[in-house]
Amino acid sequence: MKLNGNYSKLEESYLFSTIARKVSAFTAAHPNANVLRMGIGDVTLPLAPAVIEAMHRAVEEQAHRETFHGYGPEQGYDFLRESIRGYYARRGVALDINEIFVSDGAKSDLGNILDIFDTDNTVIIPDPVYPVYVDTNVMAGRKIVFLDANAGNAFLPMPNGQKADIIYICSPNNPTGAAYTVEQLREWVAYARKQGAVILYDAAYECFVAEPGRARSIYEVEGAEECAIEFCSFSKTAGFTGTRCGYTIVPDALRFGGVSCNKLWLRRQTTKFNGVPYVVQRGAEAVFTERGEEQIRENLAVYRRNAKRLSDCMDELGVFYTGGKNSPYIWFQCPGFEDSWKFFDYLLEQANVVGTPGCGFGKNGQGFFRLTSFASEETTADAVERIETLLKR
Ligand code: MLT
Repeated sequence: MKLNGNYSKLEESYLFSTIARKVSAFTAAHPNANVLRMGIGDVTLPLAPAVIEAMHRAVEEQAHRETFHGYGPEQGYDFLRESIRGYYARRGVALDINEIFVSDGAKSDLGNILDIFDTDNTVIIPDPVYPVYVDTNVMAGRKIVFLDANAGNAFLPMPNGQKADIIYICSPNNPTGAAYTVEQLREWVAYARKQGAVILYDAAYECFVAEPGRARSIYEVEGAEECAIEFCSFSKTAGFTGTRCGYTIVPDALRFGGVSCNKLWLRRQTTKFNGVPYVVQRGAEAVFTERGEEQIRENLAVYRRNAKRLSDCMDELGVFYTGGKNSPYIWFQCPGFEDSWKFFDYLLEQANVVGTPGCGFGKNGQGFFRLTSFASEETTADAVERIETLLKR
């Protein structure tokens, strides 16, 4: 028996597990410290009342023989896929219900989608980036080419002529908060089509796009349905980080050598996945009701105010940063530190504030740091005060 040797090429632990371990060690050593957690992008506001009520109703259905649901369709119930279709239609993107696959989150699907692609493909991944893209391809042994994202290109790299089969784009970006315009995505779509490549487009943060002209879906670009798969999630939009629900769009027009990616993905999902719980899908459906949308808008407004507070803090300190406008993340240059992990330790020890070291997202993240706006308003205000006091010293 041989183990998958590719795992030995990975960092010993996943970025956010390493941070959690460091924070636990710190709190064990300093039990009285009031540690403010601004590291992992985990939401703090409870689920919207419309969602909770829908889930309660669904639980009640599960209590009676006449309304009980056993196995559901692996690709999601039609009621939720219809709601997602409507959500896209309101933004001018026409989808067929069979192009929508409900899942337990974008992270799982971003990893699982690789099952339908040969390992002998070259992958383009921007650096810095959400570590899941890199790690899942390392696990499979694919060749990865990194595309530099830096202050010089506003952390929005454009095609550079590199030969590619699989291209990852995350916009609004995790970790940098930078968001592509529709015009910029047009270039990416043209490039992918010319190369016969597929774009894996992570739109998990689309609901934070505020500036006109920035894309919320790659399908806002004509022709993207022939080269792109889009991943989205209820985690950041509607507070489902612990409830787990997301969706992936695999267009019918996406074909390579005449073979439909949609059919392959359906085959993969029906074989390896048994669907998202009925109760959770009813909760997700409520996100798209008028009441649900209104309640979720209020929650998002809290996170936006937090993002503004954090970016105002960077302005006040005169620190270079991106994000905060179309994104819940603030990405900034560590003041006075070249090493992101050293800045992480400094902030944790001196201000008891946890963030995410930029180098955990790739070599171009070295010297940078990420803070999230998903903490409570009180925690964010306290963190801003502590950071200002510490860095103004
Ligand atoms: C992050 O902090 O980057 C995200 O919460 C991770 C995720 O969504 O899996």
